Amino acid sequence: MQTRRLRVNPESPAPDAIREAAEMLRAGRLVAFPTETVYGLGANALDEQAVAGIFRAKGRPATDPLIVHLADRAQLTEATVQPSEIAWRLAGQFWPGPLTLVLPRHPRVPLSVTAGRETVAVRVPSHPVALALLRAAAIPVAAPSANRFTRPSPTTAQHVLDDLDGRIDLVLDGGPATIGLESTILDLTQNPPAVLRPGGLPLEALRRVLPEIVLRARFLAPESDEAAPAPGAFLKHYSPRAEVRLFSGPRAETLTAMRTEIERCAHAGRRAGVLAADEDAADFSDLNAEVARLGAEADFTETGRRLFAALRALDQRGVDVILARAPAPEGLGLAIWDRLFRAAEGRLTTPAGRPG
Ligand code: TXA
Ligand code: MG
Repeated sequence: MQTRRLRVNPESPAPDAIREAAEMLRAGRLVAFPTETVYGLGANALDEQAVAGIFRAKGRPATDPLIVHLADRAQLTEATVQPSEIAWRLAGQFWPGPLTLVLPRHPRVPLSVTAGRETVAVRVPSHPVALALLRAAAIPVAAPSANRFTRPSPTTAQHVLDDLDGRIDLVLDGGPATIGLESTILDLTQNPPAVLRPGGLPLEALRRVLPEIVLRARFLAPESDEAAPAPGAFLKHYSPRAEVRLFSGPRAETLTAMRTEIERCAHAGRRAGVLAADEDAADFSDLNAEVARLGAEADFTETGRRLFAALRALDQRGVDVILARAPAPEGLGLAIWDRLFRAAEGRLTTPAGRPG
C-alpha cells in the first residue's frame, strides 16, 4: 500500500482535499488526520472491515476499544443510546474539544469498535480539519491515535508516517497538534462518573461542572480498581525505544539524582537524554547528555504540546536512556505525569523518599 500525504491549511482546509479524504473514509479506507489533541487514524466506525484495518495497521490488540468521532453533539444519538442529561450538558459545554465521553453503545456501532463492550467512547474534536472531515464524511469515524501500538502518540504528520507509512491510505497533514496530549476520558456509565484517562481537558475544569467526578485512571488514583482496569490502560504505552526513567521530589535533590544517573550511564557506555524544563536545562549542559527542552516548568500547555515529539526526537538522536522530572499532578500536569509514568513503565525514582 502507498501512503499519500496531503497538505492542508490547518485553519481553513481546501474543500477538495477534505472531500477526497471523506470519500476515502466512506469507501472503507484508512485516513489519518490532525485533531487538536494528537493525530487520529480514522475509519468508518460502522464498517467492520474498515475497523479491522485500524487494528491491523497499528498492531493494536482487539481488546483495546476505539474512540468514535462525531461532527457535532446532535450525532450523540447515532452512536449512543439515550444519552443522559449530564451527557448533553457536558457535551454542550466542552464540545468540540478534548473530552471523550463513555456512554451506552448504540446497537449499530460494531462490537469490534468497543472491544466487546456495551459502552462506547465518543468525542467531537475541535480541530478545523477534523471537523471539516467529519462533516463531509457524514459518518461516525473510529479513530485511535495514529501511532504503532505502544509508541508515543503522533503530534505531526511526519510522526504518523514514521510509524504507519505503507500501512494506511492517506494522511492529511495539517501541521502540529496544538494540545499534544490525548483527550480526557470520562466514563458516564459509572456512578459517580469517573475519569479513566487524564488528558487535554483538566480534571479541575470537569469538576467545576460536576464536582462528584472521581479519578479512576490506573497508576494515578488510589481508588483505581486493579481488578477491573480501564480497557487499554496498559503500563507499557507511549514508549520510545529508549528506556525512560522518571524522577520525582524536591527540585534540587531530583536534579542531583538525575545528574548522578547520567554519569552512571556514561560509565556503563550508555547514551543518556534528558527531557528538561527550560529552567533545568543548564544543570545538564556540562554533562554528556542530549537535552530536549519542554518549555518553562510552569507552562504545562507548552510542555504538553512538546512531550511526545521530544520523546521521539531523543530516540532519533540515538539515546539509550531518557530521564525526566515529574511535573506537579495538577491541571494538564496530571496528563503529562500519566504519560511520563507509562513511558517509564513505572520506573519512578524519588530521591527524597516520597513522591512529590
Ligand atoms: O485525543 C484522543 O482521544 C485521540 C484522538 C485521535 O481523538 N484518540 C485516542 O485514541 O487517544 P486511543 O485509541 O489512543 O485511546 C482510546 C482509549 C482506549 O485505549 C481506552 O482506554 C478508551 O479510549 N476507551 C475507548 N472505548 C472505551 C470504552 N467503551 N470504555 C472505556 N474506555 C474506552
Ligand atoms: Mg493511543
